[in-house]
Amino acid sequence: MCSVFLTSHNTNPAFGLVPICGAVQWSAVGNRVTVVLGAQWGDEGKGKVVDLLAQDADMVCRCQGGNNAGHTVVVDSVEYDFHLLPSGIINPKATAFIGNGVVIHLPGLFEEAEKNERKGKGLQGWEGRLVISDRAHIVFDFHQAVDGVQEQQRQEQAGKNLGTTKKGIGPVYSAKAARSGLRICDLLHDFDQFSERYKGLAKHYKSMYPTVVIDVDGELAKLKSCMERIKPMVRDGVHFMHEALHGPPKKILVEGANAALLDIDFGTYPFVTSSNCTVGGVCTGLGMPPQNVGEVYGVVKAYTTRVGIGAFPTEQSNEIGELLQTRGKEVGVTTGRKRRCGWLDLVLVKYAHMINGFTAIALTKLDILDVLPEIKVGVVYNLDNQPIPHFPANQEVLQRVEVQYDTLPGWNSDTSAARRFEDLPENAQKYVLYIEEHLGVPVKWIGVGKSRESMIQLF
Ligand code: GDP
Ligand code: IMO
Ligand code: MG
Repeated sequence: MCSVFLTSHNTNPAFGLVPICGAVQWSAVGNRVTVVLGAQWGDEGKGKVVDLLAQDADMVCRCQGGNNAGHTVVVDSVEYDFHLLPSGIINPKATAFIGNGVVIHLPGLFEEAEKNERKGKGLQGWEGRLVISDRAHIVFDFHQAVDGVQEQQRQEQAGKNLGTTKKGIGPVYSAKAARSGLRICDLLHDFDQFSERYKGLAKHYKSMYPTVVIDVDGELAKLKSCMERIKPMVRDGVHFMHEALHGPPKKILVEGANAALLDIDFGTYPFVTSSNCTVGGVCTGLGMPPQNVGEVYGVVKAYTTRVGIGAFPTEQSNEIGELLQTRGKEVGVTTGRKRRCGWLDLVLVKYAHMINGFTAIALTKLDILDVLPEIKVGVVYNLDNQPIPHFPANQEVLQRVEVQYDTLPGWNSDTSAARRFEDLPENAQKYVLYIEEHLGVPVKWIGVGKSRESMIQLF
């Protein structure tokens, strides 16, 4: 039996240990990807953090979700909004990759790109820089229509819907799991065969949801023209990713969509989305091994927001919530709905950290708290007057928890011009340090405004 030696790769720290077994030299780990993930219920400011990191990235990727996401990037006072495209596509030197875990509404993809292209220079040459995995599932118009009907039925039958974005996310991931979905590779392989399968699927949905209007010929015609357009962009995603990881050193960025508490497994089920928005989704959604995951940055808003229905223990249905909503301009990028607002909930962020293992935090929208005389932070959940040791899985239990808060003094001054930690008022510094200590994770960035420049970097 041969012995195994471990030697480190000398030239590039991104490459890990190289085990050598006798004459066989195993391959190096390769490049490591940097991951940006939402740590609450979404809209934490992931787009802005990605934009910051994407400025020197070679490749930017999306691994899950669809155009239910809404990521804002502000460059030179132009506000871009991304839903399906990785926000980092705004860097004209970056290749953008949409992985197999993403669900794609093709006409929506082109509309989004063209809309952003009209806004400014950011999307120059995007069509030549976009790569799409052949294993990604396709969202059809009828998935979106069915999403709406399902919501209506939930309301009628149970008196409560989920508050989905109606982008077809639940129906398309259901079809994927039921093994009746259609993928990009099917569209490109043989259009006649694809059309037959599409018609079969449309018939199936029509039988289940008779009120849904499906324009079979119209949608097939649209898909045919989309097919011609995406052909040059489509690759075997696993092979493409493998080459990126094992080619020359590259900065690869992964932009999570949605967030930990919306994750299909770990979120506040059933009030969640239908994909894994936590770190596991990076590997399954891009087709890459876990040892290639490097930094995992959790994006945490300095307070909490939630769009749609579901328990929200630190929600403030009062003037505090209204102030956060108004000052924070908390309106959904995808649906235009007002976001519900409340205090920062560290029980919830700690839970997200247990799943994701954040290596650092980006704390956003600190400036929104500038006018508050005191700031509360949720630190413990009590149930029947007893603290509970973990984040409850059951929604009825989560609805019942009583939050124990710590109260910190506010700073009553404008932080928007701060560019260094030392520029922040003392109480704002204390707020950041408090969060850092409570979570046991360093805060690497602090957001004090919408623009690229309004981000303090600590290390
Ligand atoms: P995402 O879904 O996580 O990318 O976040 P959204 O784009 O949906 O929502 C975040 C909103 O907050 C956007 O309008 C951003 O421009 C804005 N934003 C991000 N960071 C900051 C910040 O530090 N301060 C302020 N005032 N706004 C911010
Ligand atoms: P970003 O990436 C906030 C919410 C919806 C709804 C639930 C299910 O911008 O942070 P879906 O359409 O996915 O079936 O809706 O999930 N939701 C989000 N909320 N930000 C998001 O994305 C969201 N993506 C989905 O509001 O409650
Ligand atoms: Mg958003």
